[in-house]
Amino acid sequence: MREDLKRIYLVGYMGSGKSTVARLVARRLGWTVIDMDSRIENRFHTSINAIFAERGEAGFRKMERYMLEEVCALEDVVISTGGGTPCQADNMDLMTQSGAVIYLRMKPESLARRLTLTHGTQKRPILRGKSEGELLTFIETQLGAREAYYARAQYVFDTDTLAAPEAAEAILKAIEKSRP
Ligand code: S3P
Repeated sequence: MREDLKRIYLVGYMGSGKSTVARLVARRLGWTVIDMDSRIENRFHTSINAIFAERGEAGFRKMERYMLEEVCALEDVVISTGGGTPCQADNMDLMTQSGAVIYLRMKPESLARRLTLTHGTQKRPILRGKSEGELLTFIETQLGAREAYYARAQYVFDTDTLAAPEAAEAILKAIEKSRP
């Protein structure tokens, strides 16, 4: 492992597998896994749904930024970010400057299927209440707008074709190879 590397950030759309892959990578490295959304919920004793309902998306983004500033100072951590984290202010600069950023890319059809199958729309205020048909169109549009931010990651892996353990192995290999 690169000695200068202290943080790995996983970015990507909701449902792309960030949390699972983060857990696997952290386990292999003996590092701590941090899920940004869970950390926000634990710190503020509330849920992401409640934050959106009470403070709106703008309020949530402020809390998310606060948490990002906190975690980017920790060491030996694998951070699973929220799907919108890289797309706000200079969040992506903060991440690329403080660690390796990995984009888990997945096609809209696969994302819609996974989010529907796992009832993943319920705990995600941005997707809540959308029918299966609406969901796909929404994801296509939002992913289109977000792609430019995600694409700034130093590494990209397709989680359409890689199962979570394979994606984790690919990440570990890529990071090992990039040793200066
Ligand atoms: C969001 C993604 C969610 C969570 C919030 C907003 C987004 O995280 O941060 O509901 O804007 O894409 P996950 O990507 O972990 O679901």
